[in-house]
Amino acid sequence: MTLWNSLPLRMIRKKLRMAAVFVCLLLALTVMYHQLPVSADVTRLLTGRSANAAAAEGESGGLQEELRKMEYKIKTLEQGKKIYPEVKFLTYRDRKRILVTGGAGFVGSHLVDRLMMQGHEVTVVDNFFTGRKRNVEHWVGHENFELLHHDIVNPLYIEVDQIYHLASPASPPNYMYNPIKTLKTNTLGTINMLGLAKRVRARLLLASTSEVYGDPEIHPQNEDYWGHVNPIGPRACYDEGKRVAETMCYAYEKQENVEVRVARIFNTFGPRMHMNDGRVVSNFILQALQNESITVYGEGEQTRSFQYVSDLVDGLLALMNSNYSQPVNLGNPDEHSIMEFARIIRSLVGGASEIIKNPAKEDDPRRRKPDIARAQKYLNWSPQVKS
Ligand SMILES: NC(=O)c1ccc[n+]([C@@H]2O[C@H](COP(=O)([O-])OP(=O)(O)OC[C@H]3O[C@@H](n4cnc5c(N)ncnc54)[C@H](O)[C@@H]3O)[C@@H](O)[C@H]2O)c1
Repeated sequence: MTLWNSLPLRMIRKKLRMAAVFVCLLLALTVMYHQLPVSADVTRLLTGRSANAAAAEGESGGLQEELRKMEYKIKTLEQGKKIYPEVKFLTYRDRKRILVTGGAGFVGSHLVDRLMMQGHEVTVVDNFFTGRKRNVEHWVGHENFELLHHDIVNPLYIEVDQIYHLASPASPPNYMYNPIKTLKTNTLGTINMLGLAKRVRARLLLASTSEVYGDPEIHPQNEDYWGHVNPIGPRACYDEGKRVAETMCYAYEKQENVEVRVARIFNTFGPRMHMNDGRVVSNFILQALQNESITVYGEGEQTRSFQYVSDLVDGLLALMNSNYSQPVNLGNPDEHSIMEFARIIRSLVGGASEIIKNPAKEDDPRRRKPDIARAQKYLNWSPQVKS
């Protein structure tokens, strides 16, 4: 038994309260150091709440989040048991057994939250390459939740009704770190998940990507476009990995009657993104907060469009539960140049960061904007949060 376990409850409570006060002080100092008036806007950028709402509450998102976590821990301790967010009760008939691969990652954990709140039984499978246990720790121990430390490159035998297949590194530094592993995850891993879907007659949704369009020659990109990908470039392990994963889905659909859904996801942002995993939004915010130079590649004229993670989760659920089996773009068509994004983030953060241009990256797509007509028509879906 550790010293901590042997302390009486009263002492632990006192210690936690002291820790809470200390964290609050630390955060308050950090926020003041980084200029409080602008942090509300950064909060909006990361949480989707309006700047006014954040400002009216008078606290930064980070501070609130920490306070919420601390309150939750104190409450849990006081009650002597873990308190879970309230989930809907579903009857046996409506309750599904749902597997989320990569469920401890950024998008996966938000999807898990929604499925749990809806009252389903959720199993998360993750090898924690880029995902974190803390993204789903609030569900650990819940009767409807299970977390398996497993690498999908190896077969998995469980009973499920639906599979959301999200496991794959998603940001360029992560997928380029070990290109062979990225290829294995997207090929062998996808074959394993399709094999499981076939065995248990589950429906599988693949989290594909706008990267299947490569450096596109048409604009905006619709689902009928076959793409323009360099098969031997530095991004190929991811782009081609996802392309072959799509091919596998439709081969299993045709040959084995597996029900498949394919979401082509465009850039997404929101809470639980890794601050330093090399994605544009997190990079720029971090550089601006630290008053470092904001780095754009090339002239910064390449365009991107960013959707908020709650919109993506709505789209994934709508697609999984629809009758539509062809690929569907899920993204926000509001397009900006990277240079514009750098300026917007700098002005929201309020620092004096200089924007500097680095040499262009190999195979960096020049333009990226989803045509979402298909999602609007078949899923009645369009993004609700303005980017
Ligand atoms: N976030 C975006 O902007 C975006 C855009 C397009 C597509 N996607 C796709 O959405 C999915 C989720 O992306 P994300 O942004 O949440 O990324 P993420 O890196 O946060 O999450 C991916 C998760 O998969 C897990 N994983 C990776 N390899 C695995 C393996 N072999 N076995 C088991 N688990 C493994 C990681 O540990 C992590 O938890 C990915 O498939 C990605 O390609 C995301």
